[in-house]
Amino acid sequence: MVISPPERATFQPLKLEGPHNFPNRRFRSWNFQPMASSPVAGKTMRAVQYGGYGGGFAALKHVEVPIPSPKKDEVLLKLEAASINPVDWKIQKGAIRPFLPAKFPFIPVSDVAGEVTDVGSAVKDFKAGDKVVSMLSFKNGGGLAEYAVASLNLTVHRPPEVSAADGSGLPVAASTALQALKSGGAKFDGTGKPLNVLITAASGGVGSYAVQLAKLIDLHVTATCGARNIELMKSLGADEVLDYKSSDGAKLNSPSGKKYDAVIDCTVGIDWSTFEPNLSDNGKVIYVTPSPSSFLNSVIKKLTFAKKKIVPLIAAPNKEELEFLVGLVKEGKLKTVVDSKYPLSKAEEAWAKSIDGHATGKIIVEI
Ligand SMILES: NC(=O)c1ccc[n+]([C@@H]2O[C@H](COP(=O)([O-])OP(=O)(O)OC[C@H]3O[C@@H](n4cnc5c(N)ncnc54)[C@H](OP(=O)(O)O)[C@@H]3O)[C@@H](O)[C@H]2O)c1
Repeated sequence: MVISPPERATFQPLKLEGPHNFPNRRFRSWNFQPMASSPVAGKTMRAVQYGGYGGGFAALKHVEVPIPSPKKDEVLLKLEAASINPVDWKIQKGAIRPFLPAKFPFIPVSDVAGEVTDVGSAVKDFKAGDKVVSMLSFKNGGGLAEYAVASLNLTVHRPPEVSAADGSGLPVAASTALQALKSGGAKFDGTGKPLNVLITAASGGVGSYAVQLAKLIDLHVTATCGARNIELMKSLGADEVLDYKSSDGAKLNSPSGKKYDAVIDCTVGIDWSTFEPNLSDNGKVIYVTPSPSSFLNSVIKKLTFAKKKIVPLIAAPNKEELEFLVGLVKEGKLKTVVDSKYPLSKAEEAWAKSIDGHATGKIIVEI
């Protein structure tokens, strides 16, 4: 499928004649008062939003909206970079309707890096000028904009060694990779056993972090990717690489005949029957995109005391792990593989690229 994003973005001023025109829920309050002390109180910002379910990249509109104001336990960020995850456009498609988005119009994207410009009254750990990485809530979104409010519980300091683009890649994708490996039995405190792991779609956002994290604790990694990314996988440390379009790759057979103690499945649609013969006696498959049947089958395997297990994963990023991941990037032990970078004015091209499903690493929007 050829996707042709519009060549030029146009900015449409948003009419501000009543509280219901504001895109962010907090602006609907009749009590809304811009913080008198805020350096940006009463000003507007550029943002990209959509007004309903569906429509893909063509439904993204460039608008001018009020800069949000932080609540007492939030920080206001001047955004420098945001990274797109498949969940962002899956929410637009209606995959989590009617729960998300909470309200239209909606400014999408959760994973951001930027600089603190204002803090709520209860904030002690951050001050204006601090550089941070943050995960915004899926409910409120806000990443495709010049400013966003972030809660403290998913905002961490970003040292100078971590660029905004690299930091913005981390929250969803690297946290998911870390939690998937932990679900597969990996330990990051030095107490773990050697494991053979298979990481499918290792060239994607989640997979490219998972390969590096697994090698950091010396697991044996077999990675699957397309032929064009085989050398990249080796450079990230993968011990064996399978081209997923080859016949051995389709069967997921380890070239050295190893059985997998854990599979971190970052693809969509590989059947249990393909994984099962490749698993060790107590092997587990961690489905990063769990289907309803994977939830059912995981329960059946528990009830029947099956040795080989299914783990449907819904990652829940947390501050401690985000700090750990930022620290690894600072120390040069983890890197964000960047597929491509787009300015905010071309955010719809970044969106289309993610929907296309062939990114190598992370797609970044620079703001
Ligand atoms: N459960 C959670 O909490 C959670 C969190 C994050 C992500 N996810 C989900 O996890 C999935 C992966 O996310 P992502 O950000 O890594 O996606 P992504 O970056 O868009 O993945 C794209 C990559 O996957 C590769 N790929 C696609 N099908 C493949 C296959 N059958 N075998 C090997 N490689 C394949 C593509 O390679 P080619 O270009 O060579 O085809 C491309 O490099 C998505 O469905 C996402 O929604 C879930």
